Amino acid sequence: MKDQINHLENEAREDLARIDSAEMAEAFRIAYLGKKGKLTELFKQLGTVAPEEKKSVGAELNRLKQWLEASVETAKQEAPQQVSGKETFDGSLPGIRPSSGSIHLLQQTIQEISTIFNRMGFEIVEGPEIETEFHNFTALNIPLDHPSRDAFDTFYTTHGQLLRSQTSTVQIRVMQNRKPPLKIIAPGRVYRPDTVDASHSFMFHQIEGLMVDDAVTFSDLKGVLHVFLRALFGSETKIRFRPHFFPFTEPSVEVDIQWGKGWLEILGAGSVDPNVFDEVKYDKSVVRGFAFGLGVERIAMLRHGITDIRHFFENDLRFLKQFS
Ligand code: DAH
Repeated sequence: MKDQINHLENEAREDLARIDSAEMAEAFRIAYLGKKGKLTELFKQLGTVAPEEKKSVGAELNRLKQWLEASVETAKQEAPQQVSGKETFDGSLPGIRPSSGSIHLLQQTIQEISTIFNRMGFEIVEGPEIETEFHNFTALNIPLDHPSRDAFDTFYTTHGQLLRSQTSTVQIRVMQNRKPPLKIIAPGRVYRPDTVDASHSFMFHQIEGLMVDDAVTFSDLKGVLHVFLRALFGSETKIRFRPHFFPFTEPSVEVDIQWGKGWLEILGAGSVDPNVFDEVKYDKSVVRGFAFGLGVERIAMLRHGITDIRHFFENDLRFLKQFS
């Protein structure tokens, strides 16, 4: 009798594992616990058991019964709900739309700016974020004692490298690897150890531009930037070039757009400094070029009235969804 109980328990275990619907769970219940079920049959044999074994066999049977009842209950609850044939499918009900992500405002801005330059024949390239001092400073004509090289202004790695603090590095990489003519823009992340506040972040995005050929002039720079800024900010946008200094361009300018009653600085630019051409082994007596660099966050903030740079990086969906 005990063997029969064990056998039944094993059989039930195997059947249970196969149950994957409420119907199967009910069929299982009838097969084991029903009026003519397998367990019920065993109970009926209890009368034939020797009197001294009756108690322990009875206890075993009751234990098996409780376990089977509990298992049926669980199997019914876990079985996937099935639509029975009687229910009809109402195809006119709206479906459940899966929620989908969207492109981050910064990437949208980069894409929009890239498209404008693409239309003017600029190619989009990328460069590494972990850089050498040569690409971030030396080749860009930034002297050894320049404050931007200080560890307070640049993240250095323990292996003598750094996190690029400007996308101007990509100018150098492209010129080292290719011959003119070149027309590229290079979007990407840059890093500076600034304390985070409404207008500073230790990581932000820039877009670098570079054009090199044998007859590129400063008026080409002005023309390209005019087309770009008017495409981005509207065809009536007033633009102002202000003399400035950057080590890698000579002469250099800062470019402002008119904003309300005042002017807002939008980007830095200039003619590529001949020292930079020396560093990348271009013949400075033959090639001419211009370069420019702009901050993506700043442009997105201006265009959308965003007053805190931290919104871009905190992944608050209430913010992000406004630009989806
Ligand atoms: N690299 C500069 C910065 O991070 C931006 C810049 C200014 C880039 C002038 C240029 C340029 O190519 O000509 O502030």
